Amino acid sequence: MRSDTGLPNHIAFIMDGNGRWAKKRLLPRKLGHREGVVTIDRIADCVFDRGIKYLTLFAFSTENWKRPADEVSGLLSLLSNYLVKKIPKFVKNGIVLRIIGSARGLSDELKELIRDAYEKTKRGDKGNLTVCFDYGGRADIVEAVNKCVEEGKKVNEEEFAGYLQTADLPDPDIVVRTGGEHRISNFLLYQMAYSELYFSDTLWPDFSEKELDEILAAYARTDRRFGGIGKN
Ligand code: FPP
Repeated sequence: MRSDTGLPNHIAFIMDGNGRWAKKRLLPRKLGHREGVVTIDRIADCVFDRGIKYLTLFAFSTENWKRPADEVSGLLSLLSNYLVKKIPKFVKNGIVLRIIGSARGLSDELKELIRDAYEKTKRGDKGNLTVCFDYGGRADIVEAVNKCVEEGKKVNEEEFAGYLQTADLPDPDIVVRTGGEHRISNFLLYQMAYSELYFSDTLWPDFSEKELDEILAAYARTDRRFGGIGKN
């Protein structure tokens, strides 16, 4: 959906390039992820300041469990610290914080922090930050199908979307992948059917407000046709 100002309602990011950012500086990969969190803070502020209501971030895929154990534990710690530290800011700024994903590999303590983050922020009315953690687009679809089967329900496309983990979110208008690769990597497969895709060579820790604004400007010029014939 596009507002009168040409802004998207929902922007999503595949935050790629943290490892290479660290490698270029001869640092361990987990310091690249730590710097990635600094970029999350910076870009989230810019997104919500511009009046965009939904920001969704791909932080850890169902396939990322294959990474070395210390990198995985580093990412889990980053998420825990993020939840503990940032809640007061989200409450103050009216941002609802959702963590979506399977949660199967997460500790009970982390699951509790995730529930607590949503409970404390759910009344926010300025914006919605959704972090996809242990998330896979295919797993999301398969779980939704299984729920429909269990309920004995035949559904249409819109009803099916209500069974996905993103049930409370609109589809993303824009999906940006940083880090130079041109793939979707099992992100929001059902939800991004009509998203505008932007691929940036910038490594996520270097992603800037200026580049965000360039993408938003390009989006404002886009003729979204959703399969129709559009304005021209
Ligand atoms: C991809 O870069 C990035 C990830 C797999 C993790 C992204 C996670 C964060 C930015 C922090 C998550 C934490 C919170 C609190 C939300 P890569 O490691 O694949 O980089 P590379 O392609 O350069 O190796």
